[in-house]
Amino acid sequence: MLDPFARRISYLRVSVTDRCDLRCVYCMAEDMTFLPKKDLLTLEELDRLCGAFVDLGVDKIRLTGGEPLVRRGVMQLFQSLGSRISEGGLKELTVTTNGTQLPKMADDLFKAGVRRINVSMDTLDPTTFANVTRWGKLDQTLDGIFAAKAAGLAVKINAVALKGVNEHEYDRMIAWCGEHGFDLTLIETMPLGDINEDRTDQYLPLSEVRRRIARNWTLLPSSHATGGPARYETVQETGRRIGFITPMTHNFCESCNRVRLTCTGTLYMCLGQEDAADLRAPLRDPSVDDAGLRDTILSAIARKPKGHDFVIGRAQAPSVGRHMSVTGG
Ligand code: GTP
Ligand code: 5AD
Ligand code: SF4
Repeated sequence: MLDPFARRISYLRVSVTDRCDLRCVYCMAEDMTFLPKKDLLTLEELDRLCGAFVDLGVDKIRLTGGEPLVRRGVMQLFQSLGSRISEGGLKELTVTTNGTQLPKMADDLFKAGVRRINVSMDTLDPTTFANVTRWGKLDQTLDGIFAAKAAGLAVKINAVALKGVNEHEYDRMIAWCGEHGFDLTLIETMPLGDINEDRTDQYLPLSEVRRRIARNWTLLPSSHATGGPARYETVQETGRRIGFITPMTHNFCESCNRVRLTCTGTLYMCLGQEDAADLRAPLRDPSVDDAGLRDTILSAIARKPKGHDFVIGRAQAPSVGRHMSVTGG
């Protein structure tokens, strides 16, 4: 499946719910209105859509949210997608989560075929964690991370770099990740959705962060690639990897391999653009068979734009109106 810029689309990110048990300040406004349940695709419908993408060459699926693990019955979707790994076609099934549900779900994720997960944790300080997530408890996420490790899942920690919030913690986080055997990815904040504050106040360029980190740690080149947007280096002192996701300072769109499906069946061809295709109508139209569904997907992919045009500036409206939680990052 090639887009108009000859990029092969092999990675599908599926937001299974727009809901979350937290409200991270860079992701959501405090008073979010969530979608009514009746607008959601069923898990069977999501599974059928994922199957169509796999038939078209997608070999990596990541479930996201909101918080994917709060969607009722979601394990059923993991299980049926996981069976596509053994059948061939799908190579990787994974998830990005805030970790709160992992103590009860990590073992089942592993059994379903998940081997590697990304957990969002922006700070190791309980007070800062409560502020960033608006009410989250750091211990709950830590319990989740250690439950995942005990279940045999490889864990990567995602931290959004936030000026004046966690910028003094990266050395501590690198050391902590090294101690526990986790990779770490730092992410530049992106301007999606109104969030009750000016993003200029939060934005921290990772080029600057990397310079500061390199004063205290030896960063060695790494050829590690996950098919995601991070560029990795190895921290010599810990042996673990550190990834940098830099949509603002270093655009990686030319190697984009992914599209995003929402829980209502909307396909976004780019995280940073509004253009979308509706897959729910063809999915529910009895006259459209699997081949017709694949054709609809292919004609959407044929519209994939070259890239985002994110801008963060004082009093600047967000580049994209929808919140990150709609497309799951
Ligand atoms: P790996 O498979 O481990 O590489 O994960 P990933 O980086 O693909 O996924 P994850 O859900 O952990 O996303 C980390 C960050 O990357 C989030 O902030 C996403 O919004 C961001 N991200 C992922 N894909 C894109 C993309 O195509 N464009 C932009 N601008 N950001 C992206
Ligand atoms: N900019 C960058 N990353 C974000 N995330 C959520 N909102 C934003 C934003 N505005 C991150 C989460 C999670 C990942 C899916 O996206 O922290 O790790
Ligand atoms: Fe929830 Fe993740 Fe958004 Fe935080 S970043 S509010 S944990 S969906």
